Amino acid sequence: MEDKKIIFSGAQPSGKLTLGNYIGALKNWVALQDEYNCYYCIVDLHAITVPQEPKDLRKNSLEVLAKYIASGIDPEKNTLFIQSHVSAHTELSWVLNTISSMGELNRMTQFKEKSKKSEANLNAALYTYPVLMASDILLYQTDLVPVGEDQKQHLELARNLAQRFNTRYSETFKVPEPYIAKVGARIMSLQEPTKKMSKSDENENAYIGMIETADSIRRKVKRAVTDSIGIVKYSDEQPGVKNLINIYSNLSGKSIEEIENMYEGKGYGVFKDDTAEVIVEGLRPVREKYEDLLKNKDYLETIYAQGADKAERAAIKTLRKVYKKVGLIPRKFI
Ligand code: TYM
Repeated sequence: MEDKKIIFSGAQPSGKLTLGNYIGALKNWVALQDEYNCYYCIVDLHAITVPQEPKDLRKNSLEVLAKYIASGIDPEKNTLFIQSHVSAHTELSWVLNTISSMGELNRMTQFKEKSKKSEANLNAALYTYPVLMASDILLYQTDLVPVGEDQKQHLELARNLAQRFNTRYSETFKVPEPYIAKVGARIMSLQEPTKKMSKSDENENAYIGMIETADSIRRKVKRAVTDSIGIVKYSDEQPGVKNLINIYSNLSGKSIEEIENMYEGKGYGVFKDDTAEVIVEGLRPVREKYEDLLKNKDYLETIYAQGADKAERAAIKTLRKVYKKVGLIPRKFI
């Protein structure tokens, strides 16, 4: 375990995880778990950068853990934990804030989008959000970060901060690499296929949850926005169809060409029906395992308790080094 390379990734418990989270992130985490020493985190401190109902946040956090495990992430092999349980994340974040420039944070597209959406809710944490994300990653001397396309810019910032700190204070952090899969790194909204599928979308028809009934999946796919061209083709001019082909291909293992050939001369009706079935079947084992896991809260508590212990041991080593290099006097215990 010790000589394996390290992975860190996480998802926010800010709502229900979607098919986008599953395809863009969780499925890849599962695929990488044997080869790497993986830390998979539930980033609750990131979630509170937008207002959360406290009781929902507690519930969602536990449900995200169950979704990780239900997707096939083995809690014996990986470290699964809740971000707020390891205080080194916020502590390192403070230090990294001191080397982050306002200019680079101003350029973060996710911040720009969020600030456009809700001027009223703009808070300072939303602005420094990517610095906390960099702390998450850098604390564990991470080699690889499997994420969807939308996190690429945040990862670039983490790399820049690691390099900057290393230059200023001597070699301290590993500079992490992104891992972004070719197919499925950006699953789009079913209602506006030029926008990414998001768990915070107000329109429930725009996304499919990881845990959703077969009927609801079928209904949403049927209503998915396509176009009037009427040909099942993987093309930028047909973003709705392209998105469904991506989902179909990722969950069925069939290539894009195979799918195009299968539906040549057929309309969108059959194609959509089949896409819905591929999703229903793809998510069925996840849903079944998830429902079982939720019946056993004690088990979930044990997993996140053990995870926090393991994560803390690794995190504290990096944090101590950082504090020392910056010139903070180490605490004396009497
Ligand atoms: P979050 O919670 O928005 O999403 C979790 C993961 O799912 C991916 N993802 C998608 N992939 C494909 N298509 C989509 N429509 C889609 N929507 C989401 C995301 O890219 C992500 O990999 N800031 C992060 C959480 C985070 C983090 C970290 C990630 C905090 N610290 C450290 C990696 C490392 C976020 O908001 O992800």
